[in-house]
Amino acid sequence: MLALVGGVWLICLGPARGAEPPPVRLIVQADQPGAAPTRHGVFFEDINYGADGGLYPERVKNRAFEFPDPLMGWHEIGRAGASGSVAVLTDDPFHPTSPNYLRITADGESAGYGVANGGFFGMGAHRGQRFTVSLRARAPHGPAPLLTVELVKRDGRPLARTTFRVTGSEWARHTRTIKVSVTEPQARLELSLTAPGTLDVDDVSLFPRDTWKRRPNGLRADLVQWLADLKPAFLRFPGGCIVEGRTLATRYQWKTTIGKLEERRLIINRWNDEFQHRPAPDYFQSFGLGFYEYFLLAEDLGAEPMPILNCGMACQFNSGELVPLDELDPYIQDALDLIEVANGAVTSPWGARRAALGHPRPCGLKLLGIGNEQWGPQYLERYEAFARVLTARHPEVQLIASAGPRPEDELFHFLWPRLRELNAAIVDEHCYARPEWFLDNSQRYDAYDRTGPKVFMGEYAAQSDKVVSIANRNNWECALAEAAYLTGLERNSAVVTLACYAPLFGHQEGWQWRPNLIWFNNLDAYGTPNYYVQQLFSLHRGDHVLPTQLEGAVPRSDDGQPRLYASATRDDRRGEVILKLVNATPTPQSVEILLTGARSVKRQAHMILLAGSHLRDVNSFSEPRRVVPHESRVRVDGPRFVQTLRPHSLSVLRLGVSLER
Ligand code: AHR
Repeated sequence: MLALVGGVWLICLGPARGAEPPPVRLIVQADQPGAAPTRHGVFFEDINYGADGGLYPERVKNRAFEFPDPLMGWHEIGRAGASGSVAVLTDDPFHPTSPNYLRITADGESAGYGVANGGFFGMGAHRGQRFTVSLRARAPHGPAPLLTVELVKRDGRPLARTTFRVTGSEWARHTRTIKVSVTEPQARLELSLTAPGTLDVDDVSLFPRDTWKRRPNGLRADLVQWLADLKPAFLRFPGGCIVEGRTLATRYQWKTTIGKLEERRLIINRWNDEFQHRPAPDYFQSFGLGFYEYFLLAEDLGAEPMPILNCGMACQFNSGELVPLDELDPYIQDALDLIEVANGAVTSPWGARRAALGHPRPCGLKLLGIGNEQWGPQYLERYEAFARVLTARHPEVQLIASAGPRPEDELFHFLWPRLRELNAAIVDEHCYARPEWFLDNSQRYDAYDRTGPKVFMGEYAAQSDKVVSIANRNNWECALAEAAYLTGLERNSAVVTLACYAPLFGHQEGWQWRPNLIWFNNLDAYGTPNYYVQQLFSLHRGDHVLPTQLEGAVPRSDDGQPRLYASATRDDRRGEVILKLVNATPTPQSVEILLTGARSVKRQAHMILLAGSHLRDVNSFSEPRRVVPHESRVRVDGPRFVQTLRPHSLSVLRLGVSLER
């Protein structure tokens, strides 16, 4: 029914006079506030070029020549008649942690010999965008010829240019600003000498000025904005399997990721050679985005930091290398030091380090993951060793224990009862499965013990094909299934306190894994339908879960699983009841909604609808808004009304409700 009220068309929701009540009824106990709703966060892992080449906006790949192939990403250039040589040297470097540097010797008749860097699938630059060009250099054999640094388009046309005069024989940092004339997704940076001579260079950087909050060594602002728009409750970092490494030597060690850039020791990214079908031989971790930057990002997002630490186990899908129990102390010490660097007084050694990095205020660390996706008795032994020390010394920090890679296999069923016996505070469940799994498991937590550990749905994503398949798509079918599942999490917020989709970012050219929540290229990004599901659950979280019950002829799958889903919360400050309703059937579904304990309901309600035209709909760079939320106002005729849900849709309905006394 439509009505014109104050010049606005309203959809009227109310019992159609004389019509049969719809066969499905949703009862919401509006006056029975329960637990705080599940908190939705973001999972960040450096996979799919999420950090270097993504959130960390350094355009130069292998800027310090520290890749195992020190010239990877670089190639020689020479204008006609120009010649010379390049050599990677290590004698008398600027810093021992970053020993390689490049010696460029131009010996030809004409100018223009040097090197170029192709960036990460090229270098993205917007018209008018300013960059800091910087390099460390020295002139080993007397004053060097002028160095030209030029950003050029794919076809070689110049975008911006600057020069450096290097005369001293000691390492010195040189910096200029350039402004780009034309937008280009795949530029390259060329360094060339304007006359014969020799120059040593290191730490060559092309860094945008317009980083998030304009921070030096900051993050790509448009990508952070996508995260900020989710209002995430927490930031899980740095993963993911990257925590574990394929071997212990390549595990993530937070202490090597803070401090001066040249002190951060580069290592291989485990996704470099993980998948033969998506090889990424140039994928390394520079740690330009390191633990300090993660803490800052969490703070900027208003999200709780949630670091995940290696627990003395390399990835069990790879080497499964183990640290013997009697050699675990340094790993536990890393955890203690991390708590101190985050929370310690500035008078403590690690608290002082935080202050020296520029953040005297504590970072409010309350959540800490012990291991990523571990399993087996070896994990329990190591978890116990960590927990013994950490819970005694830091009861204020809740530890997160792993329940393995899947949500219902023998590894999972082995771990869970034992973690309960160990009084684990939070158990991290992971699930990458077909959409049907998510549709069928919305009631999974209804029977979970309310007195045991809390659940963190720490990695999940519906897979349109199967895990690790390149055929996976971020389609509406997957997003809808996740929405259905999330109503089950929300209804069970007393148990499932935290949840985050994984992975977060995928570079259009550089991905290894999909689906991902946000896709980006060198210039732009778009949110997937899955992103908007996350956003709706996060932005419309409310303060308390309300008990709900779906009654009557709820549509079901062939094997009897419900295909209509609902959860409800209450926003105390705004006095609103928030309903989340998912219709996973191909037909409209009318639901009679009854708010018990409600005295009155404001006539105008706020509706946010997310629906695709087809289950296979996806967003893309060419059509980034194919599946996005649409807002409208609807009219509600009291605490009992009928709402018709669109086929294959998620509806969020915000109702102003006064309660009975
Ligand atoms: O999200 C991608 C990967 O899936 C994570 O790194 C790992 O924890 C899981 O297996």
